[in-house]
Amino acid sequence: MRGLFASACLLLASVPAVLGASSAGCGKAKTLTNKQYSMQVNGKNRNYFLNIPDNYDNSHPYRLVFTWHQLGGSAQKIVNGEDPNKGGALPYYGLKAIANNSAIFVVPDGLSAGWGNQGGEDVTFFDQLVKTVEADLCVDTNLRFSTGFSYGGAMSYALACARPDMIRAVAVISGAQLSGCSGGTKPVAYYGQHGTSDSVLNVSQGRALRDKFVANNGCTKPGSEPAPQGSNSVKTVYSGCKEGYPLTWVIHSGDHNPSQTNQGQSTPFAPGNSWAFFTQFS
Ligand SMILES: *[C@@H]1O[C@H](CO)[C@@H](O)[C@H](O)[C@H]1NC(C)=O
Ligand SMILES: *[C@@H]1O[C@H](CO)[C@@H](O)[C@H](O)[C@H]1NC(C)=O
Repeated sequence: MRGLFASACLLLASVPAVLGASSAGCGKAKTLTNKQYSMQVNGKNRNYFLNIPDNYDNSHPYRLVFTWHQLGGSAQKIVNGEDPNKGGALPYYGLKAIANNSAIFVVPDGLSAGWGNQGGEDVTFFDQLVKTVEADLCVDTNLRFSTGFSYGGAMSYALACARPDMIRAVAVISGAQLSGCSGGTKPVAYYGQHGTSDSVLNVSQGRALRDKFVANNGCTKPGSEPAPQGSNSVKTVYSGCKEGYPLTWVIHSGDHNPSQTNQGQSTPFAPGNSWAFFTQFS
């Protein structure tokens, strides 16, 4: 009896902390599909697109990835993608193509085509999106991610500040603090990318966002500020960060561009870098 009890305890002790990570939508016949939806948030109409894996299986908890557009952009433009050779972002910031049906994408539309987050209304929009999507679809609630370029990076940063317990990791591409930082005291796994020639949001602004999470995540600041190598980007994985809260910084010599490439490459590096950062968590 004693032995049985002891082994039961051992079993319990070995159950990973991710227990209960499945959303309410798991096991349900889904009603949501790949299209544009709207909802009321604080009395305002808000739109978003949803993209669900082709072979969706309601018993499989999926990653949930939020992709926020830039100023003057739209959810439709994120869904369709824009010409990367003209400074546009690939569809779903290039992540859907790499994800191979392993993630559900939420693509919100900003008020006045941006993320001013007045009174926290865009964070509330996020909260309601999580609730609505997860009530219907099977999501791993420990694997929610957020990314965006420029204003979309600012919105991802705002979520890292305000919803650290809901977001596993963010990828902030050429961002700045434009959507606020309510809270901002807890660690969140952080990927940041910025160009030293950024003529819209200068690199100091991107570094300031990064340094907030260098501090929150307990990472060690390198002896000197990482610099690009000519026209190639340099990736720095910070050391000393708290377990589970890594921080990666990619510096390049380019301008304000979500589709920056390294020399001789035609594929932008942000998608591969962000996806590798996100999928280190399972
Ligand atoms: C995509 O996922 C399927 C299984 O869901 C797998 O068989 C296939 O090899 C994957 N493709 C790539 C390119 O990773
Ligand atoms: C970067 O931009 C911010 C905001 O416009 C400005 O306050 C700051 O002086 C700029 N820093 C540099 C080094 O240009």
